[in-house]
Amino acid sequence: MTERYSQITGWGKYAPPQVLTNADLEKMVDTSDEWIVTRTGIRERHIVGPGETNATMSVAAARQALDVAGLAPKDVDLIVVATSSPDHFLPSVASQVQYQLGAECPAFAITAGCTGFVYALATAHQFIATGAYQRVLVIGSEVISPFVNWQDRDTCVLFGDGAGAVVLEASVQPAGVLSFVLGSDGSGGEHLIIRGGGSVYPPSHEMIEDKAMYIEMNGREVFKFATRILGEAALQAVERAGLTLDDVDLLIPHQANLRIIELAARHLGLPMQKVVVNLDRYGNTSAASIPIALVEALEEGRIRDGMNICMVAFGGGLTWAAAVVRWGQPAQPVEWPLVWRFAPAGQKLSMAAARVRLHARQLADVASYHAGSLLLPLYTFAGLRKPPRNK
Ligand code: COA
Repeated sequence: MTERYSQITGWGKYAPPQVLTNADLEKMVDTSDEWIVTRTGIRERHIVGPGETNATMSVAAARQALDVAGLAPKDVDLIVVATSSPDHFLPSVASQVQYQLGAECPAFAITAGCTGFVYALATAHQFIATGAYQRVLVIGSEVISPFVNWQDRDTCVLFGDGAGAVVLEASVQPAGVLSFVLGSDGSGGEHLIIRGGGSVYPPSHEMIEDKAMYIEMNGREVFKFATRILGEAALQAVERAGLTLDDVDLLIPHQANLRIIELAARHLGLPMQKVVVNLDRYGNTSAASIPIALVEALEEGRIRDGMNICMVAFGGGLTWAAAVVRWGQPAQPVEWPLVWRFAPAGQKLSMAAARVRLHARQLADVASYHAGSLLLPLYTFAGLRKPPRNK
C-alpha cells in the first residue's frame, strides 16, 4: 500500500479584539511592565469579550483554514479540538464547532494542557495515515481568562485567549507530518492545576471561597521542567524524522516564556532567527499558541516549501510533545483506500437501517403496551373467576 502522509493545506487564527496590556495589569495587581517583560517577554494579551466563546473563536479560525485549503465544511471528515478551557464539560466544544461550522462529521476534544495542539496534530495524522480519513480539521482554542485569578500576580500576567486551526490533508508526497513525540508525567500534576470544579472537588460555596476554580502554578518547577523537556522532545522528534538539528529551518515552540524559549534554542544550538516568537502580543494561549504562531510565521513569509518545521510544546499534566512537519502542498490528491472509500455511504446506509429497526421496535412496544391495557380487564376478570385453591 502507498504510504500516506498528511500535509497542512489550510491555516487560520483568531484573537479577540480586546487587548489587556501590562500597563492595564499594573492597575490590577502589584506588578510592573518592567517585571513582566524581563521575566516573561509578554507585553499584552487578548481577552474574550461578550459573545466570544471557545467555540466561536474555533469556528472563526477554522473558517479561515478551510478558505485557505479551498474546502467547504462538508468536505471535512473529522474535527479535533485541543483545549483545556472548554465552554462546557458537556457537550464537547468540538461538537459545537462541528454544528456552528455546518460540518457533517465526527468531532472530539483533546485535553493535554498547553501541549494539546501537538497531541491533536499527531492524532489527526494517525487517522489520515491509516486511511480512515482524508481531511481533518485540527484546532487549538482556549478561553483561559475565566480560569485566571486576576488578583494573583504570579499567574494573571501570563495567559491570554485565542484560537488557531489547520487543515490536514492526505497526500502521497513524503512531506507534512514526518514524526512526532508525545509524553506525560502525571507525578508533576500539582505544579499546574485547577483544583476545583471537577468530580474530586465539585462546585460549592466552599470551593469558590477557596478560589479553587482558578489556575494554580508552581512557576519555578514548571520553568525547570520546560527548559529540560523542550530540547529533549524536539531532538527526539527531529531524529525520528531521520533528520539532524542542522536540517531544522524553523522552531515553533509553545509560547509561554521568552526565557524558556531562548534556553531551549540554546540547548538545541538553534539561532533565534530560526525560532518563532510572538508571545509579546498574545501571552500564553495554551493549546492555541503553536497554531497561532504558525499562522503568523506563514503571514510573515517565514515558511516556504521544503522547509523542516519543528513544533514543540510543554504543559499541564505534566505533558510534552514535538512534531516535525516538512512544508509543502500536496502535488496531487491522494486516492482514498478502497476499504474506506465507501465508508461514508456504508455508514449512512447502516444508520438508515438502524433507524428503521428502532422505529419497528418502538411500534412493537407501543402495540404491546396498548394490547396489554386492553387485555387487563380480561386478566382481572379471569383472575376473579379463578376457583379458590383448596386449603
Ligand atoms: N510582578 C511582580 N513580581 C512578581 C510577579 C509579578 N507579576 N509574579 C511573581 N513575582 C515575584 C514573586 O512573588 C517573587 O517574589 P519574592 O522573591 O519576594 O518571593 C519574585 O517575583 C520572583 O519570583 P520567581 O518565581 O523566582 O520568578 P521567576 O523569575 O521564576 O519568574 C515565572 C516567574 C512564573 C515567570 C517563571 O517561573 C515561569 O515562567 N515559569 C513557567 C510558567 C509557565 O510557563 N506556565 C505555563 C506552562 S504551560
